[in-house]
Amino acid sequence: MQATDTLAGLNFELSEEQLAVRDAARDFAQNVLKAGVIDRDREQRFPKEEIRQLGELGFLGMMVSPEYGGGGMDTISYVLAMEEISKVDASTSVVMSVNNSLVCWGLEHFANEEQKRKYLVPLAKGEVIGAFCLSEPEAGSDATSQRTTAIDMGDHYLLNGTKNWITNGGSASTYLVMAQTDVAKGHKGINCLIVEKGMPGFVVGAKEDKLGIRGSDTHTLMFQDVKVPKANRIGDEGFGFTFAMKTLSGGRIGIASQALGIASGAYELALAYSKERKAFGKAISEHQAIAFKLADMATEIEAARLLCLKAAWLKDKHLNYDQASAMAKVFASEVAMRTTVEAVQVHGGYGYVKEYHVERLMRDAKITQIYEGTSEVQRIVISRGVLKG
Ligand code: CAA
Repeated sequence: MQATDTLAGLNFELSEEQLAVRDAARDFAQNVLKAGVIDRDREQRFPKEEIRQLGELGFLGMMVSPEYGGGGMDTISYVLAMEEISKVDASTSVVMSVNNSLVCWGLEHFANEEQKRKYLVPLAKGEVIGAFCLSEPEAGSDATSQRTTAIDMGDHYLLNGTKNWITNGGSASTYLVMAQTDVAKGHKGINCLIVEKGMPGFVVGAKEDKLGIRGSDTHTLMFQDVKVPKANRIGDEGFGFTFAMKTLSGGRIGIASQALGIASGAYELALAYSKERKAFGKAISEHQAIAFKLADMATEIEAARLLCLKAAWLKDKHLNYDQASAMAKVFASEVAMRTTVEAVQVHGGYGYVKEYHVERLMRDAKITQIYEGTSEVQRIVISRGVLKG
């Protein structure tokens, strides 16, 4: 089926359940997250208590089947919730995105029953959080060039190497680690291993001091002769790279929705401010210079939202969403950048100080063009799809 064939089933109506999820996420963001978000950003403080509450509300394993402790929701609900949480606190929403899309989804779809019972259930319930470990000092966009090794020792693998830029690096309990077992086989020699915090030889390195999403904890991880049981390998021998790619395709819907939320949060702040602030005898929103900015923001955000929902819809219908998720991510992240820069401009000098939130959203927006595949990686995925026809 071509992507455009799906237009026949076009339906913009959200179900009552989807609207209820959106409203619950909005309430949590506005009533719980907002109060401390400026301080957490300033102090680079992980939202530990907020994440605990998010887990209790079922937002950390939203799409996981109830059989494994999840909420059994669809991807559309996930997009709606991600947008609401990200409007207020992108540091919290990245924890939510990684746990839902990269860790829980990957385990539910590719882990065996024993692994699901042991690792997925507590992750889906939000009792613990997880991390996805693919990037390395010399393997970012070029993800097949893994240097971390998992040598087959019979009943276990011996894991050695370094992973970089790992979201939830310090706070996670369960880590999905991609490592090369058979170099001669290239990407077909990569495995994904479930590594537990505390396994001897696993060291969490220093926390990164970042431009944005400063409340989230991003770390380098070191593995020195870590013995990982064979039972912790996901899928067949050599399945690790396919696992990473398939999982990242869905992860990109999460990050696209995060970018959408950052953009719509900044837009809502700019809109409200422009109606209050007066200059030259009237509200600045009544000056066309500002009104046209708001019009452009609203148009781009709506287009980004539709791309996110389309990718989610394809995923829920079990249709191919690789290209759609890449399109949603590249577009929404660029909209997030443009919108947040303009939102600061609408606020004038007030936009440049922390109290008004938009400067933080502008800093947070930048990472959405970098993680879970840079904008350039998304264009590789999209252009390959376009050229294949
Ligand atoms: N599903 C299944 N298989 C896939 C796939 C997908 N979506 N995409 C690629 N593959 C397969 C290919 O079919 C190919 O297999 P075969 O050789 O058997 O045909 C294999 O994977 C290699 O693919 P390519 O030849 O396309 O590989 P490439 O070297 O040209 O790179 C790439 C492709 C798209 C650039 C890929 O390397 C990539 O996505 N890189 C970016 C990685 C990334 O997103 N990193 C983010 C880190 S995680 C993170 O940020 C999380 C966080 O903490 C927030």
